[in-house]
Formats: sequence, structure tokens, C-alpha cells
Amino acid sequence: MECRVNEDWAAWPAPDRPPQLLSGEAHVWWLPRDASSRGAVDTILAGYLEIAAIRLKISRGVRGKPAIENDPSLHYNVSHSRDVLLLAVTRFEAVGIDVESLDRRVDYQRVAQRFFSPAEAALVRGGGCERFFTIWSRKEAFLKGIGEGIAFGMNRFSVTLEPGVSPVDWDGTPWFLHPLPPIPGKISALALPVERLRLRCFRPVVQSREGGVECVPLQS
Ligand SMILES: CC(C)(COP(=O)(O)OP(=O)(O)OC[C@H]1O[C@@H](n2cnc3c(N)ncnc32)[C@H](O)[C@@H]1OP(=O)(O)O)[C@@H](O)C(=O)NCCC(=O)NCCS
Repeated sequence: MECRVNEDWAAWPAPDRPPQLLSGEAHVWWLPRDASSRGAVDTILAGYLEIAAIRLKISRGVRGKPAIENDPSLHYNVSHSRDVLLLAVTRFEAVGIDVESLDRRVDYQRVAQRFFSPAEAALVRGGGCERFFTIWSRKEAFLKGIGEGIAFGMNRFSVTLEPGVSPVDWDGTPWFLHPLPPIPGKISALALPVERLRLRCFRPVVQSREGGVECVPLQS
């Protein structure tokens, strides 16, 4: 089945200076994924901290979730799929993000049957791969938000295909899945325990340079 590809670049403007990140906001960065993307992520995170990227200190939780040691109030999460890397940054609230490529070869009916809740598997049965990846990315974004990862068990909770913000219950704490502006050929989701969120999305201008690329607006 052919999956729809959206072309909407305007929703991802290039910022002209390091953005201020306020409580109740989430910043999502769309970066090209290549050998330099780890450096670009460090540069952006260091931009929030107003330090040189080399001074950035990242630690990992028991299940591998990265955290910023320099300033524990600043949270971030990354996801990559083929040529795209998404970086989400928030202040005070944990965050999880996921991006999936629609052209990934997956026996999605089988995967849904095995790993999704019965309600989600039924939604996939009645639709195509776009529905599968929408549910998958919502589930994975949530599992990355709480830091558990996939090992937690994908069928221990359910998400919906409702447009807009949708809730997930986590141990009494409501989490919310937020849609992101479309990226051609991708499906993505953002999860955090905030319902009324100011979402700002950026796509930095990237210039080719000898030995890689550089995110222009956020040099440290
Ligand atoms: C986290 C996980 C869902 C990532 O899945 P994926 O589809 O391969 O990858 P994505 O591109 O979406 O995300 C990868 C990024 O997620 C982040 N990440 C890793 N573990 C994470 C976790 N537990 N929670 C949140 N984010 C995590 C990392 O930044 C990683 O990127 P990096 O390694 O380049 O820094 C999956 O690897 C997982 O479930 N890990 C948990 C493994 C686990 O339980 N280990 C137990 C060790 S005892």
C-alpha cells in the first residue's frame, strides 16, 4: 500500500538565534541525520545552556534515557529514522519523541497483532501502514518519555488515532501525545505530561562544510 507523503515545510522555520525555552513549551528540531548529527544535537543543547558544546555532560538512565547533567531542569529526547533526526527539548517536564519512516518494510499486521493492544490491532486491521506507524510512534514516544523503552511492554497501554492531543494514563499521571507538523515520508509523535503545550518546531539552516555540516544559528 502506498503511504501518503506530506509536503509542508512552512511549519518548520529556521530560527535566527538560540530560542528561549519557557516552562510549558516544547521545542522540536528537525535535523538531517548523518555523521555530524550527534554534534549538531550537542550544539543545540549547549545553545540552551549557553555553554560550549564540549562542556555538555550527558548521563543515561537505567534503561538508557539520556539526561543533561549540567541542568537537570532541561530535558531532551532524540529519535532518528533514515535521513531524519528529531530532537525535542523541554523545561521541567520529561519528554519523549519518536519518528518512523513510512517506507520501512514491516509486516505491520503481524507486528500489531503481537505487540499492540486488541483495540489498537483492530484499528490497524481496518487501515493501512500509516495507521500502524501512527500508533507505533505514539506508543514509542510515550515509552521514551517515561524512560522505560520498548521492554516495558507495548501492549500494557493503549493509544488512539484521535487527531489533536490525546491522553495516556501512566500510574495515575496523565501523559499527552502531541502531533507534530508533517515531515515528508515520516510519522512522528511527541509525548509529555503536559496537555496545553506551546509547541515550537525548528529546522536549522544547515550548511555543507568540509568534514560535515554545521547548524548555522546555534554555534557555540
Ligand atoms: C529507546 C528505544 C525505544 C529506542 O528505539 P529506536 O526506535 O531504536 O530508536 P530512536 O531513534 O527512536 O531513539 C533512539 C534514542 O532514544 C534515546 N533513548 C535510549 N534509551 C532510551 C530510553 N530508555 N528512554 C528514552 N529514550 C531513550 C537515545 O537518545 C537514543 O539515541 P542515541 O542512542 O543516538 O542517543 C529502544 O532502544 C529501547 O526500548 N531501549 C530500552 C532498552 C532497555 O530496556 N534496556 C535495558 C537495559 S538494562
